Amino acid sequence: MKKSYDAIILGAGAAGLFCAAEAGLRGRRILLIDHAEKPGKKILISGGGRCNFTNLGVSPECYLSANRHFMKSALSRYTAQDFIALVDHYGIPWHEKTLGQLFCDGSSRQIVDLLLGRCKQGQVALQCGKAVRSVTHADGFYRVTTDDFEAEAPALVVATGGPAIPKMGATGFAYELARQFNLKVVQPRPALVPLTLSREDALFRELSGVASEVIASYGKTAFREAALFTHRGLSGPAILQISSYWQSGHPVRINFCPTENTEWLVKAKSNSPKNTLCQFLRRHLPDRLADVLNERLALDGILAELPDKALRRAGAQLANWEFYPDGTEGYAKAEVTAGGVSTAELSSQTMEAKRVSGLYFIGEAVDVTGWLGGYNFQWAWSSGWAAAQIL
Ligand code: FDA
Repeated sequence: MKKSYDAIILGAGAAGLFCAAEAGLRGRRILLIDHAEKPGKKILISGGGRCNFTNLGVSPECYLSANRHFMKSALSRYTAQDFIALVDHYGIPWHEKTLGQLFCDGSSRQIVDLLLGRCKQGQVALQCGKAVRSVTHADGFYRVTTDDFEAEAPALVVATGGPAIPKMGATGFAYELARQFNLKVVQPRPALVPLTLSREDALFRELSGVASEVIASYGKTAFREAALFTHRGLSGPAILQISSYWQSGHPVRINFCPTENTEWLVKAKSNSPKNTLCQFLRRHLPDRLADVLNERLALDGILAELPDKALRRAGAQLANWEFYPDGTEGYAKAEVTAGGVSTAELSSQTMEAKRVSGLYFIGEAVDVTGWLGGYNFQWAWSSGWAAAQIL
């Protein structure tokens, strides 16, 4: 038997759960469908199990999109402070870890429980473990068919995220639906993802496990955080951040000595003349990293014997080390998907498709991608909230 609702939401992740709850609490009859057996799986594993649920520094500059203004409306109408107030209302203790990143003191499960509790209060009908077989649109109604039931509603919200971490049930279903309705999709790509290094940089792969604070930059964008060497290349927060901007064939630049200027090795020559460059670097950097950088710089002998010019050049190279990644570790390791349903197709006020009445896209499915650090969940809350106000 076909059941009718005010809106059907596909995807019970962060955006779908939040949107369903808010619309349900506004008195709308909502059906929320997910093909996974349980809702909110990414929330559960997020932030190392503590869910970095928002960031105190949320602003449009912290997001990538073909339209850098698109996210402004939603972010300003449902803010980080709004979500913090909700977390407080449910008595969930939290703390700021670093750089404005807010985590639960306890577990991510508390955020999922908050969302499920609100869905229950809003009488949302939640159907998990239901693969969507078809979506059609006729006579002003969206009809969704699963193996077990059919449902219809005048509004359909697509909150199925992107394909990052497919083994968790992530899919590109939102893009298929967008194309079904002739909406443009900005080429999706893995983001917040480790970068792989080519053979020329094989020496650095030997550093697997070594971490160091760096400034990683691409073009004019730079992040000062930790970088981590892996057996395949580069990872750690600074690299994940810059990976979202990186384009194949171009270099990522690493400043290994973010607190120093290019004169520091010349100064070192007068302060520690009997040190070799390697000994000196070992005082500032992890030993194994210092050894590899020293090998590449190829300046033998004690500092006193090295010309200032060579030391300046070495200082400049350490501050601007170029890596040419040969790729990324792909969707299997990506924290998010960049690109997605084109913002040109959507209203920034409501997330509704401009050319298809009653069809909405929210969360990661949309071409809006946040930095690492709680920005992506805030986008899920803000975009979900925007749609919920109009359902
Ligand atoms: P999300 O992916 O959460 O939900 C989509 C839902 O749709 C899923 O439940 C899925 O099963 C369902 N679905 C997919 N295809 C379907 C289909 N065909 N039919 C039915 N259902 C379907 N962000 C952040 O801000 N802070 C953090 O701490 C972290 N940490 C983090 C860790 C890891 C390991 C990952 C992979 C990601 C993060 N993120 C994060 C990113 C964050 O998880 C992500 O941006 C949001 O979950 C996006 O929310 P959505 O609801 O849009 O998609």
